[in-house]
Order: sequence, then C-alpha cells, then structure tokens
Amino acid sequence: MTSVTAQANPNIAFIKYWGNRDNDLRLPSNGSISMNLDGLFTRTAVSFQPSLPFDELIINGHEVAGKGLTRVSYILDLVRTLAGINLNAEVMSENNFPAGAGIASSAAAFAALALSASKAAGLELDEAQLSRLARRGSGSASRSIPSGFVEWKMGTGDDDCVAVSIAPPEHWALTDCVAIVNASHKKTGSTEGHVLAWTSPLQAARVADATRRLDICRNAILNKDFEAFANIIEHDSDMMHSVMMTSNPPLMYWQSATVEIFYAVRQWRASGLPVGYTVDAGANVHVMCLSEYAKEVEKRLRELPGVSNVLVAGVGGAAKVV
Ligand code: PMV
Repeated sequence: MTSVTAQANPNIAFIKYWGNRDNDLRLPSNGSISMNLDGLFTRTAVSFQPSLPFDELIINGHEVAGKGLTRVSYILDLVRTLAGINLNAEVMSENNFPAGAGIASSAAAFAALALSASKAAGLELDEAQLSRLARRGSGSASRSIPSGFVEWKMGTGDDDCVAVSIAPPEHWALTDCVAIVNASHKKTGSTEGHVLAWTSPLQAARVADATRRLDICRNAILNKDFEAFANIIEHDSDMMHSVMMTSNPPLMYWQSATVEIFYAVRQWRASGLPVGYTVDAGANVHVMCLSEYAKEVEKRLRELPGVSNVLVAGVGGAAKVV
C-alpha cells in the first residue's frame, strides 16, 4: 500500500489540560485552549506493508521499541479496526525541535500520525474524527489537528471530546519565544503526570474553576486583548504547576532559570512590553508576545542567565498531508 506523509505543529496551551476523567480514552478533566506553533513540526510517513511481521517505528533515524512503539501501535490498531485491515506498518517520523522538553512533541507526533496513518489505510476522516483519533495517543494532540487558535472541548464522551479552531492563524499576530533552559528529556512524562494530578488537593479547585478561565482566555483571544491574555495565561500556568508541585509524589518541573524568567517577564510587562509567560510539563518558558515585539523579546531572553537558546514561532496552521 502507498506511503502517506503528514505534518503537524506542536501547540502551546494557554488554558492547560492536566488530569483526565478517563485515562484510557484520554477524556480530560477540563477543556483547554492553545495555539499551534508555526515553523516547528513533526513530519511522519506511514505505509502498511504485507511483508512486515511487526509495526516498525523510526524517529529521527533511530529505531524505537518499547513504550514508544506500544503507543504508536495503539493508534495504528484503532486505524486498522476502522479501515478493516490487518497489515503492520512502517512509521518514520522526524522532528525539527527537541523532544520531551515541554514543547509538546507528543502533540505534533500524534496529530501527524493520526493523519498519515488514517490516509495510508485508505480512510478519509474529517477534522473532528482526526482530532478524536489523535487524542487517543496524547490528549494535547487533539489540538494540533485544527488550525490557528484552538479549543479542545471536554465533551460528554468520546464522540464529542474534540478540538475546534476558534480563530485562524491570521486573526492575531502572536509570537511564542520559547526560552530553552534545559533541552534534556523530562523525568516524568505527562501520561504519568495526568494520573498524579488527582493526588493533589488543589486539582478539584483548579478543575472547578476551568470554565471561568476558558471564557476569559477565549474572549481575550477573540478581542485581541493582550493584557487580559497575559494575565490569564500566567494565572492558568501557575495553577497547573501548583497542582503538579502538590501532587504525590510531587512534580517540580521548574528550574531556577525558569523562575528568573518569570520575574523578568513581569518586570518587562510592567514597563510596557507586551509579554506573558506559560510553562508546560518542562522547565522551558514560553514567552508570548505581540509579534512586532518578538525580536526585542528574543534579544532580552538570550541575555538572561541560564537561557541556552530561544525558539521563535508564530501562529501555525492545521495538520496537513505533504
Ligand atoms: O497531551 P499530553 O498528555 O502530553 O499532556 C499535555 C500537558 C501539558 O502540556 C502540560 C498541558 C497542555 O494542555 O498541553
């Protein structure tokens, strides 16, 4: 059968997903909002082949077995069932950004996999079906299927737990300046982290308040209100990390350089530079700004101690076949 290659951007969550109400189906405890990151991508080629005794996974030129392969085969199984085929697949994937460092590599990876594998199996899934399929590999991957600014709805069950675009990339010129303070692989991945979320006494409060934060963030994006946007993304990120730090065992993703950047960003904003921070399950800080200030923000971040690199990304489009 033919090989199909698809490409997807990672995304940065402004209202975070942390904790599931169903771990197997990856049904989140709360809705979330994100933006796709233009220029950063995972590109994945899938071909189902009669001669293969097992599924084969190659990431950045290296064959991957164990947990990584099991997760990919799980998505391939869902695709095989939908398509009514029982062939094994070769999956070749490449990233142009560091994996496992809080830049949502799994989001881009499973979005690209959902699209390439379903097409390679002869399926023509619509955006909602693709988002749902990607979600089964990694919750945040559901948000890397639609374009631009995206909201992943909690839904009532598997069928309506999908992500939709709330605004196209050209709606608002925002830039994410990702300050890399530690590009190494994180210790506790998000799959295990989601399970731990409910061991924190703060998680129930965080989840109960999610609709309020989603409304504020969605409105800030739709109205292009940067001040409201910066305040809510920092608040939401701090809330998620409070849950992480107070779970059992505790998860501390921040490093001292992470906190230094928080202080700097708040000082810059107080002095008139439109910036705000948010951090995923890693130490790197996503510093959001209006795109016209991106050069200045990048320059200032590079001058901070502990910042080894800065990745710069505007608003990205939908996952696509290439
Ligand atoms: O999709 P996962 O299981 O990698 O979880 C993502 C979790 C965060 O990145 C911390 C938050 C989010 O909403 O992307």
